[in-house]
Amino acid sequence: MFDRHRKLRSSATMRKLVRETVLQKEDMIYPLFIAEGENIKNEVSSMPGVYQLSLDLLDREIDELLELGIPGVLLFGIPKHKDEVGSGAYADDGIVQQAIRQIKNKTKDLLVIADTCLCEYTSHGHCGVIHDGDVDNDESLPLHVKTAITQAKAGADIIAPSNMMDGFVAEIREGLDEAGYVHVPIMSYAVKYASAFYGPFRDAADSTPQFGDRKTYQMDPANRLEAIREADSDINEGADFLIVKPALAYMDIIREVKDRHAVPVVAYNVSGEYSMTKAASLNGWVDEKAIVMEQLTAMKRAGADIIITYYAKDVAKWLNEQ
Ligand code: PBG
Repeated sequence: MFDRHRKLRSSATMRKLVRETVLQKEDMIYPLFIAEGENIKNEVSSMPGVYQLSLDLLDREIDELLELGIPGVLLFGIPKHKDEVGSGAYADDGIVQQAIRQIKNKTKDLLVIADTCLCEYTSHGHCGVIHDGDVDNDESLPLHVKTAITQAKAGADIIAPSNMMDGFVAEIREGLDEAGYVHVPIMSYAVKYASAFYGPFRDAADSTPQFGDRKTYQMDPANRLEAIREADSDINEGADFLIVKPALAYMDIIREVKDRHAVPVVAYNVSGEYSMTKAASLNGWVDEKAIVMEQLTAMKRAGADIIITYYAKDVAKWLNEQ
């Protein structure tokens, strides 16, 4: 006697009936890189199909996203000027604050998520202010709080702090509440590893650290228990969503966070994951659509409720075709 598992795989209809995980465009968030200046549409060399866009070309992009049915965007800014303290991140007329206002004035049907970090705005490329050669945690926190408040003031629907300073969720929550933004949720980059998979993003966002690396604030890829502690802290501090980042090499962590916490879990399918898949696809070595759908479905199976991905538009197109 043996089990006949193939009974439930006998036809496409049967497989559909017993499918446990379904990818939907409603789960996708699309990252956008907003560049200060005019008439900018620069393709990121390490991320074919991904562009830095200026505000005058943003409306067209938003129309496309609305038409495709993508529910949200995650905004990163590329300012013209950087300084030691990343002041462009928390300026009321900073590039991301302007982009948020423009999108919110245009439509109520797209959620605008603001990445809250300083690395795109600091001359040294780190996610906070530098003291004695390292990022100073407690001195950086007020700047992140200021950034979050200006983003909320501009109309951001969700604040997504990615800076990995200790206490950032607690401080940002308190700052938002005091400023009257009690209703704005925090999507915390709770579990963020110091990963080589961010390489292409740093081309896209022009945020490569000018010295050293991010290993004193982002997590060691070898650690699992540390991920549990980070996620627990952020929940205690008031996070409404938990992000695990990167995604593909960290599926075990996605599952662990999902099983432990009753909040939506977000997988960030990061730049390096996009670039590897794109490069192999452009070479004709893999079937792009099949491999992307498989990767993202696997993230959902691992426990992700939401996926931030540079493939969001393609996925929406493929799903709309079906
Ligand atoms: C900012 C930030 C980074 C990413 C998202 N927010 C870069 C980094 O931490 O170096 C990476 C996203 C990606 O690789 O797609 N701190």
